[in-house]
Amino acid sequence: MKDEQSHRVPTSDDIEVSTYLGIAKELHGEQSAPEPKPLPPEERETIVVIDFGSQYSMLIARRIRECHVYCELVPWDTPWQKIAPLNPRGFVLSGGPASVYNPGAPVALSYVYDKHLPVMGICYGMQVITHQLGGQISPGEKHEYGHAMLYLNTEDCPLFAGLPPSFSVWMSHGDQILNLPKNFKTLAYTDNTPVAAMGSDDSVFGLQFHPEVIHTPMGKTIFQNFVYKVCGCQGNWTPANFITESIEKIKKQVGDGRVICALSGGVDSAVTATLIHRAIGSNLTCIFINNGLLRRQEPERVLNTFLRNLKMNITYVDASERFLERLKGVTDPEVKRHMIGEEFIKVFEEEAAKLGKVNFLAQGTLYPDVIESSSASETKASATIKSHHNVGGLPAKMKLILIEPLRYLFKDEVREVGMALGLPEDMTWRQPFPGPGLAIRIIGEVTKEKLETLRAADWIVMNEVKKAKLYRQLWQSFAVLTGIKSVGVTGDYRSYGYTIAIRAINSDDAMTAEWTRLPYDLLARISDRIVNEVPDVNRVVYDITSKPPATIEWE
Ligand code: XMP
Repeated sequence: MKDEQSHRVPTSDDIEVSTYLGIAKELHGEQSAPEPKPLPPEERETIVVIDFGSQYSMLIARRIRECHVYCELVPWDTPWQKIAPLNPRGFVLSGGPASVYNPGAPVALSYVYDKHLPVMGICYGMQVITHQLGGQISPGEKHEYGHAMLYLNTEDCPLFAGLPPSFSVWMSHGDQILNLPKNFKTLAYTDNTPVAAMGSDDSVFGLQFHPEVIHTPMGKTIFQNFVYKVCGCQGNWTPANFITESIEKIKKQVGDGRVICALSGGVDSAVTATLIHRAIGSNLTCIFINNGLLRRQEPERVLNTFLRNLKMNITYVDASERFLERLKGVTDPEVKRHMIGEEFIKVFEEEAAKLGKVNFLAQGTLYPDVIESSSASETKASATIKSHHNVGGLPAKMKLILIEPLRYLFKDEVREVGMALGLPEDMTWRQPFPGPGLAIRIIGEVTKEKLETLRAADWIVMNEVKKAKLYRQLWQSFAVLTGIKSVGVTGDYRSYGYTIAIRAINSDDAMTAEWTRLPYDLLARISDRIVNEVPDVNRVVYDITSKPPATIEWE
């Protein structure tokens, strides 16, 4: 859950996102720059996901994108004027927490049916179709939740093409279909749900189960069938097409203008900068601020890639001392975040001012950060980011317009684009790293010495995890310098040294996370190396807490 007071960001690991987000929170009502338009509609086939507030809505969008078909998630009450430019080829109605007979329950707007495009309603989405087209729902007496065996009673429905006569699906619903709407047939049933799938001759379908979750192993085929066989999409949403279209769009938007972009070392800003560089070459200047809170060899790696290999204009600022000075005596995590954000903006402003006239600021914002979901916390989050079109933290006279070439991409798509752009693997596959860097992995005051200790331990964790070929499988893996000192024996002497905690987690989106069952041998190697190679550390512990209740970072 998003903490209102915190600057934690769920998806983007880039420094600029977190810091600008911080500023954005403090700004209200500033002048908006024109919103960048999505990709050219005539070349795009879009599936529009109508969001009724299900926790799985974003997953639906991801599943469709995995079929190489572009899709957008929109709130259920989005008017047709906003949908038309997307050139929709079909609609998916998401699940949702409501019951269709609740007063004020959200329903589909008339265009969903009037445009005669294919529709697939999932769970609540199916009930909405039933209710609106004249069928009947019964409030389910039994709440069905979990695995169920689905039996098809059709052999020629394109939605189920290539699927066996029965397969396992994931159910989660209270209400059930009692009477089908006119012209609909039952397509499948389960032991507890007589109408588990329904369809009409004009390609309106309803599924009572969730094809988008991994617990429905055949779900991917259902989405493929829907987008290709039912909606007739070609599947032209590929990294190569995205790159071509983005470059065109950036060229058009920027013209002869100049762009600045803050590099963080993360994949989001790296891909943003590379796309813009491909479009406008030397009119892009990247600012890379070393805040002294980066991992070992990070500044060298970033400079190597962008300055030496890609030959971009880079302003490199080693501001480590400034940040350390600001952090002296600070122990509160949120104060740390705030100060780091503030200092970052100051340094950024100073450097940007030296560049003369600049028109645009590029930022690696991702789709989950801007998505207008029906869920309250997300809506607030996107509203905050959206209010941030003109970066008010920068000198007012600069009037920078924001460009966000990745604002319609999911993280895995950004990685694919990064690879297609030829960025090095260790950059495209880098695990998320928080904007405030190692400062929030040192419990208590941040000092040069503690940073050195943590960097050394972190390097070993990274090194061993990579050697074990687990780096890509883990969402994050890192070391934390806990505030605890404890007694040990080193050689013949009593020692009193730091405790390092290892954290390794699996996650899809950082909103929830499961601690990883790393092999004991790997943990043993990490521990041995840390206590032997890192001075002042005599104890290593493994964090076996999931999120919630713990957060991924310790601060
Ligand atoms: P938590 O600790 O909230 O982390 O479970 C969720 C994800 O966000 C990252 N994180 C941050 N990223 N600025 C950032 O840019 C921050 O202040 C921040 N705090 C946490 C964290 O690494 C994880 O990926």
